[in-house]
Amino acid sequence: MLVGSSLPEISALEALAAKGEAQQWSFDDIDWDIEAVVPAWLPRKFCAALISQFYHGEMATLAMCRRILAEVDTPVRIPGARRCVELQIADETRHAEVYRAYVAGIGGLQPIDPTLKAAYDKALAWDGPPEAMIAAFNIVLEGEALFALDTLGGWLPCPRFRRINARVSRDEARHLAFGRAYLKARLVTLGGDRRFEIYRWLKDLWTDTAFGVLGRFPIPNAILGRRCRTWAETGWQDHRRALFDVGLVSADEARRLEGGT
Ligand SMILES: [Fe+2]
Ligand SMILES: [Fe+2]
Repeated sequence: MLVGSSLPEISALEALAAKGEAQQWSFDDIDWDIEAVVPAWLPRKFCAALISQFYHGEMATLAMCRRILAEVDTPVRIPGARRCVELQIADETRHAEVYRAYVAGIGGLQPIDPTLKAAYDKALAWDGPPEAMIAAFNIVLEGEALFALDTLGGWLPCPRFRRINARVSRDEARHLAFGRAYLKARLVTLGGDRRFEIYRWLKDLWTDTAFGVLGRFPIPNAILGRRCRTWAETGWQDHRRALFDVGLVSADEARRLEGGT
């Protein structure tokens, strides 16, 4: 059964799948002869720990994609959705491989941060409708990954990282677009209580993660540190707007759920 085939989000998903196929690249497309450069103010171990988190994020997103693949077309098939998830699996596998190789050159892979691990475990433990997990990974966590890549890319004058960043960011922007189009097509089918439950769950997930990460990563640069604190204080507003846009809750419903009027 195909429902809502006239929705513009459906053709957006098919267009995204086609774009994803056209944008596939490989590990060898990165020029690995370009050296990794870590600035003097940034301890190499700190830099390796930071970039290792991208690797662990990719692995968690891969686990999410594999779970979603089984559910993405239930109860109704949405043309293009399954192909988008399959392409995301190929993308995240490549990203993980590239980050692992990058950190190998600056001190080796470091363990996952416990706050991030808790966030991924919480997101992956969701056993309700798959829309919540897609919102957690493809809206909230990938939105954060893009922000972090953009911030770090600006601060890290490393030509090797910048080349990686340009390719990975383009894929991540497509994953965000997939999450938005898929959720717009699907959230209209969920009842209010379910949507409210997902909104509260996402807000808790983000709040725990943002402040937890900030507390654990003392940024060795005052301006960058200030920018990160501002992010933790105001970052939820961006996700909130994205969640209104995909139809998870309205602004009034969010205010009610957050204890406002
Ligand atoms: Fe990725
Ligand atoms: Fe992604």
